[in-house]
Amino acid sequence: SRSARILVASNRGPVSFQEADDGTLTSRRGGGGLVTGLSAIGSDEAAVWVCAALSDADRRAAAQAPQGRLDAAGHDTGGQAVRMLDIDRETFHQAYNGVANSTLWFVHHLLYDTPVSPAFDHAFTQEWASYLRYNEAFASSLAAEAAEGAAVLVQDYHLALAPRLLRERRPDLRIGHFSHTPWAPAEYYRMLPDEVARDVLTGMLGADRAAFLTRRWADAFVDCCRVVLGATVERPAGGDLTVVHQGRTTRVGVHGLGADAEFLRERAHRPDVGSRLRALREEVGDRRTIVRVDRTELSKNIVRGLLAYRHLLRTRPQWRGKVVHVAFAYPSRHDLAVYREYTAAVRRIADEINEEFGDDTWQPLLVHVNDDFPRSLAAYRMADVALVNPIRDGMNLVAKEIPIVSDAGCALVLSREAGAAAELAADALLVNPYDVVQTAEALHRALTMPAAERAERSRRLAAAGAALPPQRWFLDQLAALTGDAPG
Ligand code: G6P
Repeated sequence: SRSARILVASNRGPVSFQEADDGTLTSRRGGGGLVTGLSAIGSDEAAVWVCAALSDADRRAAAQAPQGRLDAAGHDTGGQAVRMLDIDRETFHQAYNGVANSTLWFVHHLLYDTPVSPAFDHAFTQEWASYLRYNEAFASSLAAEAAEGAAVLVQDYHLALAPRLLRERRPDLRIGHFSHTPWAPAEYYRMLPDEVARDVLTGMLGADRAAFLTRRWADAFVDCCRVVLGATVERPAGGDLTVVHQGRTTRVGVHGLGADAEFLRERAHRPDVGSRLRALREEVGDRRTIVRVDRTELSKNIVRGLLAYRHLLRTRPQWRGKVVHVAFAYPSRHDLAVYREYTAAVRRIADEINEEFGDDTWQPLLVHVNDDFPRSLAAYRMADVALVNPIRDGMNLVAKEIPIVSDAGCALVLSREAGAAAELAADALLVNPYDVVQTAEALHRALTMPAAERAERSRRLAAAGAALPPQRWFLDQLAALTGDAPG
C-alpha cells in the first residue's frame, strides 16, 4: 500500500514492549535523543514511523498487529502510525549489537582500546552480512509503504546502508539521512575494514541529503568522504555543502536539536514528579545538589564524573556534609559485556565514595539505576549544578533540559566534546572530559558561583537549550529535503 507521504525509519521506535508473568504485553516509551527528537512527527496522518522489534515482546506485539502496524492494534504509540519490523533474532542481534553498537558507535565516540580492539575477524564478516540484511529489510519495507515522490527520513548509524538500498528500489523518493551521533575523524574512521568504511559512506551518500547535529560532525563526515572515497566536495555560496561521488550529488546539512521546553516545564510540575521531589528533598536536606542523568553508556563518562566528585571531596573538605551528588545511571545495551562491566564499575566506585566520606548523617552520593522519568525531572528541578561530561556526544539533550527545568537555576559543568557545547559555551563551565582534576575544579566553581550569576547563566542556558525545539528540527529537515528536486 504505497500511501505514506512522510516516512521515518529508525532502529528504536517510540514504544517498546514488556511481557508480564501472565503473558500480557505492556508498552513503554523509548529513551534517548533520537526518540525524544522524533516525537515531533506527531499524529500527521500521512506519516509512518518504521522501526525494528528490539525484543521478543516487541516481536509478539508486531506479529499480533495487522501488517505490523502497532497503532492499528490499539497500542499507545502517542498517536503515531508505527510499523514495527520483525527481523529474525540472530540477524537483528548481529546488526544491532555487533555492527551498530560495538563497531560504528565505538568508532564515532572514539571508544576503542586500540592496542587490543578492534580486531575485525571472521565473526565480524558475518555480523556485517547481517547488518546488510537488516538494512535491506528496512529498505524493502520503506519501498513498499512510500507514496510516489514521498520523503523518507532515515535515522542514525544503524541504518547507514538503507539510503542507497532504498534509492535502488525507489529512485522517485526524496531520501534524507540524519546522524544523532558525532562523526569520527578520518584517521580514526579508517580503522574500519576498507570495504566497510566505503560501504557506510556510499550507503549514506545514497541520500539526497545527509544531516548532522553540529557543523563539527558534518565536516568530519565530509572529510571521510574525501579521504576514504576520493569524493569531491563543493561549497556553494550560501547553500549546503555538497559531496559528489560517482556522479551522484549529496547535500550535507546541519540541524541542531534542542529540548521541548514547553512539554518539560508542564511535565515537571505534575503530581508524580512532586511526590518524587519531596522524597529526594527528604534525603538531600538543605544541602547543595550536583545532578547527572544518563544512560549507563561508555561515552557518557560516568566513572570519571564520579572520580571528579571524589577528588572534590578530597581536596575541598569544606564541601563534606554540604553537598549531595544525585547520579542517575539508567540501564542501556546490557547485551554487551563491556556495558555490564561498566555498570558494575559505576556501582563499585559509587560505593567506595559513600564508604570513604559518608556517615550516619550524610550520604554523599545517591545513585539510582532503574529508569524513572518523573524522578529524573524531580532531580532536574533540584539541581544547583548539572554535570554533563561525555567523552563525546552528538548533542546531549540533558545539558539543555536541566537548566530549563531547575527551580532555582543551575550551573552547568559541560564537556567541550558534546555537540551541545557549541551552543552553550557562553554560559556553561566547559571541561576536557578526560581531565578529572579540571572537572573537580569546575564543580567547585559551579558550587561557589554567586546565586545571581548562577540564575542569570541558567536563564540564558535555558533559552539557548529551547531555541531549536524538536518540532522545528523535524520540519526544517523535511523542508530542506523536499525544497528541491530529487538528486
Ligand atoms: C543514542 C542513539 C540512538 C539510540 C539511543 C538509545 O541516542 O543515537 O539511535 O536510540 O542512543 O540507545 P539504544 O541502543 O537503547 O536505542
